Amino acid sequence: MMKTKILTENEIAFAAEQLKRGQLIAFPTETVYGLGADATNEEAVKQVYLAKGRPSDNPLIVHVASVEGVRPFVDEIPEKALKLMTYFWPGPLTIILKIKVNGQLSKSVTGGLDTVAFRMPNHPLTLELIEKSGTVLVGPSANSSGKPSPTMAEHVHHDLAGKICGILDGGMSQVGIESTVIDLSEPDGIPLILRPGAVTKNQLEAVIGTVAFDQHLVGENETPKAPGMKYKHYSPDTPVLMVRDGDWAEAIKAYQNKKIGLLANKIRINQFKNQFSASFMLSETGEIDEAMRQLFAGLRALDEADVDLILVEAYDNQDVELAYMNRLEKAAGKQYFETIPH
Ligand code: TXA
Ligand code: MG
Repeated sequence: MMKTKILTENEIAFAAEQLKRGQLIAFPTETVYGLGADATNEEAVKQVYLAKGRPSDNPLIVHVASVEGVRPFVDEIPEKALKLMTYFWPGPLTIILKIKVNGQLSKSVTGGLDTVAFRMPNHPLTLELIEKSGTVLVGPSANSSGKPSPTMAEHVHHDLAGKICGILDGGMSQVGIESTVIDLSEPDGIPLILRPGAVTKNQLEAVIGTVAFDQHLVGENETPKAPGMKYKHYSPDTPVLMVRDGDWAEAIKAYQNKKIGLLANKIRINQFKNQFSASFMLSETGEIDEAMRQLFAGLRALDEADVDLILVEAYDNQDVELAYMNRLEKAAGKQYFETIPH
């Protein structure tokens, strides 16, 4: 087993050196931590799939430090894509483009697809790391496959210690859920959102006009385009139930004989004092940005607490709340409080 070092910003040059040698270094981003490796090194990219226990047909996002970083790997950047890059990068938006034939990216990055995903993350340490590495980096979320994405260096250490060379600690991820993924690989088609995130449909449309959700996201049973969306995502061993605003008192009462874990806003935690066994504050104010930031950390914490079930704050299915609900619904297997007989 390899010793996994926690690295600080003074050790970016060391981390970059390790990446050049084909080693794996987890890096901070504004969304979640990524598991970095040289995207042009086939051996290194294979190790990423191994370390995560990830199916090899689920392609990886290539992380760049500038728009220029994309150019060597595509024949062209379509106009709409360039507009989005200019407007949202660095930031939580991943853009899928047609890949250049016989380019330098390792085959395993895309699992044989003719498209490739790019993102420029908004974190100063990671932008410096990419620049110093002299290459571009794959960066799947740095969790074991099936666990929630990590929003702190400690989460990465919990899942991947012994399997990777180091973790660059950049503090807590400020967005908290993974980037919006948009497919622009068909320049004449309508751009498709494959994964909702902090950059919303409305924000995208304000820059490039009409955008649509992939059918899978709007609830029709078609094969999702982002291979990652088809895999079972994190759901704790403990049952998770979503609870809507008006249903809390009833939910707490229904489970009064069980050990309840509460992942909820401050107002509920105060209201139901002593009626639950463990709690994790999702948000002080109830604002969605804060809830999004804490969701994965809360699920991790309460899954390790001694509780029979976890009740989690549900939001509306619109705008940026849609992204939060997309992740929460996966953890809860779509179960709301009132859908469970009691
Ligand atoms: O915020 C993020 O995007 C984080 C941080 C670390 O940057 N990364 C991340 O990577 O979430 P990952 O590998 O956990 O999720 C990537 C998603 C998967 O659902 C994958 O199937 C999809 O993007 N994807 C990647 N390349 C694709 C492609 N060429 N076509 C369609 N979907 C693709
Ligand atoms: Mg992931």
